[in-house]
Amino acid sequence: MTDTTTRPPSQTPPAGMPHVDPSGPGVADAPLNVHELRAAALRRMREGAFGQEMWDYLEGGSGDERSLRWNEEAWGEIRLAPRCLVGVDAIDTSVELFGSRVASPIGLSPAASHRIWHDDGELGVVDAANEAGMVYCQSTLGTASMEDVAARATGPLWFQLYVRRDRDLTASLALRAAAAGYQALVVTVDTPVLGARDTDRRRSVRLPAGLSFANLPAQTARVEDPLPAHRRVYVERLDPTLTWKDITWLAELTDLPVVVKGVLRADDASRALDHGARGVWVSNHGARNLDTVVPTAQALPAVAAEVAGRVPVVVDSGVRRGTDVLKALCLGADAVFVGRPYLYGLAAAGREGVLAALHMLDTELRMAMGLCGAPRLADLGPDLLWH
Ligand code: FNR
Ligand code: LAC
Repeated sequence: MTDTTTRPPSQTPPAGMPHVDPSGPGVADAPLNVHELRAAALRRMREGAFGQEMWDYLEGGSGDERSLRWNEEAWGEIRLAPRCLVGVDAIDTSVELFGSRVASPIGLSPAASHRIWHDDGELGVVDAANEAGMVYCQSTLGTASMEDVAARATGPLWFQLYVRRDRDLTASLALRAAAAGYQALVVTVDTPVLGARDTDRRRSVRLPAGLSFANLPAQTARVEDPLPAHRRVYVERLDPTLTWKDITWLAELTDLPVVVKGVLRADDASRALDHGARGVWVSNHGARNLDTVVPTAQALPAVAAEVAGRVPVVVDSGVRRGTDVLKALCLGADAVFVGRPYLYGLAAAGREGVLAALHMLDTELRMAMGLCGAPRLADLGPDLLWH
């Protein structure tokens, strides 16, 4: 789907001037930031096979979308208090996560069905993540199998697990992830029931014809729900009986570190560790499930304080700028993940668009670190935030 015929010829920039080479990132109009990439994605989606419906699925939140707005606003509203005259000639963003050193603390959150947005799909996304030196977390609901993604990868991968009603299938997904070389098992716990995604409910949105969930058998056990789609509360295939004891079960099932995704409270972070988790992921699922839920910028500090460096703390939801990433790191996160930003890149221009999104965030993070007088991640702390 990448269109190579309409790119403007490459221009030579003035000496020493940073520039976006229009023939490079392959993104129409060479967007410079995630907001511009979003606009490029929207244009592309409207032309594409799945159109507005799948754009709304990508973009939407639940209810009145208050948390969707709050997520971005809460990062933006935090004010920075930069140090001056530090010497920032050697900015280093590298970090160790579950035994692997990666070039960046920015990672790619799990998201369903990448091939909805571009034929490059999960394999294109993993290529871009590897090239950017970032961790990619693949979703259970991928349109490429976890084995194919692992065969393609040259960098660290995490696997996101949705706990199915069929526990044998759940166990087999975890065991396959371990066998395929994934380095962490990310268990999403914020979706025990459906959220009020009204636009999707109205349309009864589903995977477009021709695509399938490549990690799952074609026929999986499901609970027949007699209610019409807009009246349903339970997710057909996800287990609403999920509790803390299942985290212990999963932690014992393989050697993979279990990361609990969807923690927003300090007491739950503590319970996660008590039940064998080796990572805590502060997330409100990009405000797609519970509306008016706290934005993660506000939930993160208490969780990070509770965890107190014992295990990695990951955060996502609403991160759109390098300054957002920097603030999350100042508030105690070890890694900062994004969902929609790389999906915008995927929708706009496939693999190259994903790489453009990751490079935007990486560049902005480096700028923010330099401007804050904090050239290493260890220099980032709450004193850089204005109180
Ligand atoms: C998601 N998210 C998600 N999470 C998960 O654990 N498993 C999944 O399959 C999906 N699928 C998914 C699809 C789409 C289209 C989106 C936008 C999101 C949530 C995702 O992992 C992450 O928590 C949010 O996307 C973070 O918020 P931002 O960065 O999108 O604001
Ligand atoms: C979503 C599910 C797949 O957010 O997690 O769309």
